[in-house]
This record gives sequence, C-alpha cells and structure tokens, in this order.
Amino acid sequence: MEFSTKAGSPEKLKTSCIVVGVYSDAKLTPAGSTIDAASQGSLTKAIKRGDQRGVRGSATLLTGLAGVQAERVLLVGLGKQAEFNDKAYAEAVRAALRGVGASGAVELTFTLAEAAVPNRSLAENVRTAVLLAREFAYRFDELKSKKEDPIRLERIVFPVDKASTKETQAGLAEGSALANGVELTKTLGNLPGNICTPTYLATTAKKLGRDWKMKVEVLERKQMQALKMGSFLAVAQGSEQPPKLIVLHYEGAAAKDAPIALVGKGITFDSGGISLKPGEAMDEMKYDMCGAASVLGTLRAIAELGLKINVVGIIPTCENMPSGVAIKPGDIVTSMSGQTIEILNTDAEGRLILCDALTYAARFKPAAVIDIATLTGACVVALGHVNSGLFSPDDALAEELLGAGRRAADPAWRLPVEEEYQDLLKSNFADMANIGGRAGGAISAACFLWRFTKAYTWAHLDIAGTAWKSGTAKGGSGRPVPLLTEFLKNRAH
Ligand code: BES
Ligand code: MN
Ligand code: ZN
Repeated sequence: MEFSTKAGSPEKLKTSCIVVGVYSDAKLTPAGSTIDAASQGSLTKAIKRGDQRGVRGSATLLTGLAGVQAERVLLVGLGKQAEFNDKAYAEAVRAALRGVGASGAVELTFTLAEAAVPNRSLAENVRTAVLLAREFAYRFDELKSKKEDPIRLERIVFPVDKASTKETQAGLAEGSALANGVELTKTLGNLPGNICTPTYLATTAKKLGRDWKMKVEVLERKQMQALKMGSFLAVAQGSEQPPKLIVLHYEGAAAKDAPIALVGKGITFDSGGISLKPGEAMDEMKYDMCGAASVLGTLRAIAELGLKINVVGIIPTCENMPSGVAIKPGDIVTSMSGQTIEILNTDAEGRLILCDALTYAARFKPAAVIDIATLTGACVVALGHVNSGLFSPDDALAEELLGAGRRAADPAWRLPVEEEYQDLLKSNFADMANIGGRAGGAISAACFLWRFTKAYTWAHLDIAGTAWKSGTAKGGSGRPVPLLTEFLKNRAH
C-alpha cells in the first residue's frame, strides 16, 4: 500500500474514489461540502433520500457525479459531531476502507483526517489512517499454497493545501514507520513454533541490525553459562532448540546518553513443560514470544523514524518443553543475581527467563528498563483484551507509559506492585518460589520480577491479553509497539 499527498481542491482530483464524511445531522465535512457544491447538491440529495443518514460506520457509494473528477464518491457516516472521538474516527476510517475495498477502486483519496477529533492533531489523524489502512491490507498467508485475495486498493492519497502539507507528511511518515514495526511484530507472532524458533528470532534480529545499522550480539548457551544465568538456562534445558540471548543496540543519541532497555519474553512455544498445559488452544502458545517480537518491532519503527535516543533491546528466547532432562516441580535453580528459586510450576517459565535478562540489563546503566511479556493468564482475567497490564514501583514512569498508551490508542492499565504481595512468593527451601497462587496471579508475577530490578527504574507490561486475538480473527495484534514507540518518541531529544 502506498501513501502520498496531493495538492488541489477535492472536486478537481482525478481519482478512482474520494471519501468524505457526513455527521448524523446531515452536516458534511469541508471536503464533503465542496464536492456537494460542485455536483449540484448530489450528496445532499443522497442524504435527503435516506441513502446516508450519518450513522457511525455506514458507507454509501455514489458514482458518476457530474462536476466531480473522482469516479466514485464514498459518503461515510460519522455519527454525532459532538461525540466524534478517537473511536468514532477509527470506525469511520474502517468504514471507508471496507466501502472502497468492496468497490473496484485502486486509489482512495482520503479526506476524513480533516474531521476534528478532540485533542488530536491533523498529523495524528493521518497517522491513525495509515495504521488502519495497513492493518486492513495485512495478510499472513505466506504458509498457504493458495493465497488469499489481495485487496484491490493500492494507493491512498491525502489531499493537502499549503497549510496542511507539512503536518500531513509528518503523519504519513510516522504512520508508515509504525506500521512497519507493527507488521514485523504481528508476523513473528503468527509464525508457528516450528519455524519461529529462538534461532529464527536471532537471525531476524541480525537482519534488522544489518538493515538499520544496529549492533546485534547473540549470546549462546556457553556464554550464558559463564554469566551464571541458571534460571534462564533451566527453562531451556528441556528443549532440543538452543536458547539465545539477543542484544540489539540502537544508537540514535550521544554515547554518554543512558539508554532505555526493552526486555522481551521470547518463549517461542510454551507447552507448560512438565506442568503441561491442557490441550485446548495450546497452539496459541506460539504467541508466547510476542514480548520479544514487540522489542524487534519497536526497534524497527524507531530506527525508521530516526529517533534521537539510545535503546538496548534484550531478548531471552527458548522453548518451554517437557522432556527427560526438563526442569521438574521442586527443582531449585540459582539465578544470575545469586538469588535461588524453587520452581513449583514449570509453566511459570516467563519470569524465570526474564529475571536473568533483567539482571543482565543493569550492565547498560539504563535510564529505565521496561520488560514486555505474555506473562500471566491472570492478567487476561483481570483486564480482558483491551488494556495491557502495567506494573511499576515508579509513579512517574508509570504515568509516562500510561499516557503514551492513550496517545497511541494502545492503552495499558496500572496494577500494583507492593511489598505486601511478596509473601505470596515464600518458599520453604529457596529464596523464593516461582508462583504465588491463583489470587493476584499477575501481581505476584510482577513482584517476582521486581526482585531483580533494584538497580534501576523499571516497569513491566503484561501483554497476555493484548498481544494477539483468538477465535476466527486469530492473529498477532502488533501491540504494544505503538505504546512503546510513542514512549520513546517522547523521551527522544
Ligand atoms: N505464557 C503463559 C501466560 C499466558 C497464558 C498468556 C494464557 C496468555 C494466555 C505463562 O507462561 C504461564 O503459563 N503462566 C501461568 C502462570 C501460573 C503457572 C502461575 C498462568 O498464567 O497460568
Ligand atoms: Mn507458561
Ligand atoms: Zn509462557
């Protein structure tokens, strides 16, 4: 899908389809009024006939309008103008894409970004339109021998005048970079566990490094043994696939600038291990590397944006499998930090690989560390599929991330990390247990990680409910790449 800007009045633009909006009181958007005037009131007539009543999400295709250069005019309902918010705008964009997708049009001239949304700039409206269009066009059919029908729409043109050119172009650039990052994250998530192995993630990271001039190191088992990553390696020991610790360095600022570290859980398949998961929907545990994928996607996005900031991506990646040499309930391991852990449930493996990666992160003297993990089913129970879970003992960092999530339409909701919960992790035989029981399961998982993050400012995102969709729409979501990219954009110089 291509995106561009074009100067000129809407009625004079030669295009296969132009989309304009109408509110529920029959009021047209500015481009709509212009088209209406040029076509002797054709839009007003369609509205009077009842063909388009401004209902949110509806779309009416008009063809052959005299006085208008566009072959088609798509009239999209926007709902009540007083209630036209982020969600209504997104619905309108989707309605436009569906409407034009159903026609034979190859080009869409998109004017809805001019519709005012409270607290949103033109650039943000454009960015949202690009993201939604790329989402609409996204297919994951590389493993099907018969490809799905590609959409016919090839280009989206944003009409501009002198005053709006710069902002529109900024929105286009940001939307495209973000969409590229989101798509990388989606695709890595969608790839099955037999293809997207730890080795595959390492290869992907190296390629990303080559394409975008990032230094990439891949630590092998031997090196991790030398670092005494006993907890991470314990999870990896039941698998035939070698574990990897991937470290990427994006250097967009001066060398002395403390980096932000992003640490992503990279379990390429989570069977549960000896504490085997039930069979239902177990295939979805191929998505257990979505934290890792979001680190790669975010780095992809910020590299394209050229953000002036330093970021270190750290990805511990392995499989969690049952086998004769796998960890067993009751096993006690020593983490890189020296703290010992009694593994009471081998399915609580995410925290076991993350704790060593979090200890490793300290060597970069980071300004802040954010880990991203499909960590707990309990987080899905708590927050559903709308908000990611955000945990941080640092109020300022938590607010920063929540704000970034809201602006990026990729929201998170804060849950507590507090000393009072630490008792849940008591072990009779080691410094801590790796599970804290059913009650507050997402919180005890965060409290476990907290014990390994005392050297820096830290936040944890539990994306178990937001990283992918289940059911017929099964597929990676690309979240929380928009949140993380927005956060880094705000932190950049
Ligand atoms: N990867 C899972 C968490 C998960 C489950 C994410 C379902 C998305 C959907 C994680 O490794 C896990 O198995 N967690 C356990 C922890 C429990 C044993 C304390 C869980 O949530 O059941
Ligand atoms: Mn698990
Ligand atoms: Zn897991």
